[in-house]
Amino acid sequence: MRRKLAAGNWKMNGLKASLSEIEALIAAHPGPDCDVLICPPTTLISAAAALARGRIAIGGQNCHPRLSGAYTGGISAQMLKDAGASHVILGHSERRADRYESDEVVHAKATTAISEGLVAIICVGETERERDRGATLDVISSQLKGSLPLNASGAYLVIAYEPIWAIGSGRTPTLEQIAEVHDFMRAEMVKRLGDDGDEIRLLYGGSVKPSNAADIFAVPNVDGALVGGASLLASDFGAIVAALEAA
Ligand code: PGA
Repeated sequence: MRRKLAAGNWKMNGLKASLSEIEALIAAHPGPDCDVLICPPTTLISAAAALARGRIAIGGQNCHPRLSGAYTGGISAQMLKDAGASHVILGHSERRADRYESDEVVHAKATTAISEGLVAIICVGETERERDRGATLDVISSQLKGSLPLNASGAYLVIAYEPIWAIGSGRTPTLEQIAEVHDFMRAEMVKRLGDDGDEIRLLYGGSVKPSNAADIFAVPNVDGALVGGASLLASDFGAIVAALEAA
């Protein structure tokens, strides 16, 4: 049985004062009926983990493919773990686009992250142009093929379907379009991992907010959400957590 997951991606937002949002989230959901994860900027991981004390999970937003070495500015999977992270987001479209991260790079990072004991949340998703020309499933298929690591398992891999045109735009695909992609991803995971493919959580991400969360969570094979903007405030994210608990 897949345990649902509400994941918040703070992106490059958050100073020490923002830790109060994590405090408020935990206070409002002391024993959530689903997994709750906040991925703050790296500078806040240690403090956030100390504050959360396992009541919610804390994760990173990226890691280096190598374990350690002369990579100025790099953050390794082991460092994230050491700071108290249990998850890491990899292959977010903002990094694929701005930092030229290829499927091969995402594959390497995910392999390292999983071998270091982190749960890898791998993001995939099409551009608007790709959707318009009917290439969505081809794009997802090739991103999955290229970026999923060989050491993937139900316990250590989460996939987030994030249509690029839906991120931060206030627009979302129709529920039918979300269902089509999630059913496709589920079939691909089962093809690849057998029964264990059924254990991999598939998140939807892109303009999830309190007002649309319940509808999205009712879609089969949607096991939660990866939330950007609406994860910054405990009041918004808490409402999304509540919708997931009720789903
Ligand atoms: P958004 O971002 O919720 O602000 O659209 C989602 C994401 O990029 O993970």
